[in-house]
Amino acid sequence: MSPGDPAEGSVAVTGRSSAAAAPRQVVLVVDFGAQYAQLIARRVRELQVYSEIVSHEISAAEVKERQPAAIILSGGPASVHVDHAPRLDPQIFELGIPILGICYGAQLIAQQLGGTVGRNSQGEYGRTVLTVEPGCSSSLLGPDAPPAQTVWMSHFDGITVVPEGFVGCGSSPNAPIALLENDQRRIWGVQYHPEVGHTPNGMALLDRFLHDLAGCQPSWTMGSIIETSVEAIRARVGDGRAICGLSGGVDSSVAAALVHRAIGHRLTCVYVDTGLMRLGESEQVVETFQRHQGIELIHVRAGDRFLERLAGVTEPEDKRKTIGELFIRVFEEASGGIEDAEFLVQGTLYPDVIESGTADAAKIKSHHNVGGLPEDLEFELVEPLRNLFKDEVRKVGSQLGLPDEIVWRQPFPGPGLGVRIIGEVTEEKVAVLQQADAIVRAEIVAAGLEREIWQAFAVLADIKTVGVMGDERTYAHPIIIRAVTSDDAMTADWARLPYDLLETMSNRIINEVAGVNRVAYDITSKPPGTIEWE
Ligand code: XMP
Repeated sequence: MSPGDPAEGSVAVTGRSSAAAAPRQVVLVVDFGAQYAQLIARRVRELQVYSEIVSHEISAAEVKERQPAAIILSGGPASVHVDHAPRLDPQIFELGIPILGICYGAQLIAQQLGGTVGRNSQGEYGRTVLTVEPGCSSSLLGPDAPPAQTVWMSHFDGITVVPEGFVGCGSSPNAPIALLENDQRRIWGVQYHPEVGHTPNGMALLDRFLHDLAGCQPSWTMGSIIETSVEAIRARVGDGRAICGLSGGVDSSVAAALVHRAIGHRLTCVYVDTGLMRLGESEQVVETFQRHQGIELIHVRAGDRFLERLAGVTEPEDKRKTIGELFIRVFEEASGGIEDAEFLVQGTLYPDVIESGTADAAKIKSHHNVGGLPEDLEFELVEPLRNLFKDEVRKVGSQLGLPDEIVWRQPFPGPGLGVRIIGEVTEEKVAVLQQADAIVRAEIVAAGLEREIWQAFAVLADIKTVGVMGDERTYAHPIIIRAVTSDDAMTADWARLPYDLLETMSNRIINEVAGVNRVAYDITSKPPGTIEWE
């Protein structure tokens, strides 16, 4: 639980069960270290089939136990020829489960089943043309496939001889066998990447494999996600009580709405209002959850306590720790009053689950301490979003009636405006920053850029500059506008906002926000900068 979006706190739990939605029919995406394994899994779900990513070390016995409707072997960075190249348990090919190999996955099928994978004289990266062999009716492409189509490749090795019983149905300039098919054994392979947007017919191929060849049902729909989640939560919580720390971010909000759908008034949400939220944000959280969703909500107005504690604190890490520690204290005080609550709801997502254990080695900022909960809280965990990707979480949120402002809310750090006010945090500075920030965000929305920009916000610098307004000398604070594009916040680029938009923001901030006489735009990418200023 964390009052900010991507980072989750570290909570030790007494029981490890997730209460997450998982229907009976599953497609296993076997990960060979591909950068695209998650994308493949998401594409499968877009085609309304539930998918999970599993390690290539999975055994045939484990696969048999899971009874997947199909298996997709991902690409990967290795060559099948190197020592210790990841391989698939050969017995998996004998289970009769439909298999599609992509890139490295296709090469592995060829090599493990008796074909040959050669080292090409030249790799093939980017767009190329797949040509279907004359007279070959490809099951994988289907009867209506054009004789030639654009596909996206990224490989060096290539299949040169197909295993016995297979046919090579298509080629590209540097992949003599780009389509590998064995209808009888229901094993197919493609050298190219159908999961990427640069392969225009890629989704059609995945659709064909899943629905026509493997016989998967289109059962992973919003309705079924909500229904199976609700069932799983009820089974886990029984007659118990749960609490949920709401941050206003999409993950904790959707988790709370789902759990409320499952157990109603036996869920209590705690919203710790640090006073460091954006303009109108706390009111919106209360309005949405208490009034619209009818969720029992404890709104702890702790702004004064946070300001008091932050007096004189200027060093960024001290600030983060101060805010984080007080947050825990306040949360504990509030949740202690909820009798018999034994479950804690957390908004952990599927990518967090896949990536856990591979956290960054170097600590740049103490994110995970801020807004996280301590190790010794005695709760059982309920994580209803544990199997969902972010786009699915947003859809579930909309379906459950949460407003766009929450479902599409940009990430917001746990310590809130505290790390966007450089130097000491005071009530006056919070008010100035809230107003300037509201203008930046409103103008981004008005320009229709809200969903393109990862984060856009204002920072209040701890310096004063000289200006002139109406023939008068001014000496006031500058506001810095920060807007970045990113996929995951690990790296980011400064957004190329139109000059007109920057001009409107600047004019509005100077004219409407007292105490500001200058506006600057931050043009630092990450790295070397971080997204937040502290
Ligand atoms: P940085 O500044 O490290 O931020 O580039 C990366 C992403 O994380 C968000 N952020 C936080 N989220 N608690 C959070 O939940 C935190 O303490 C925290 N600090 C930064 C930041 O907004 C960006 O999206």
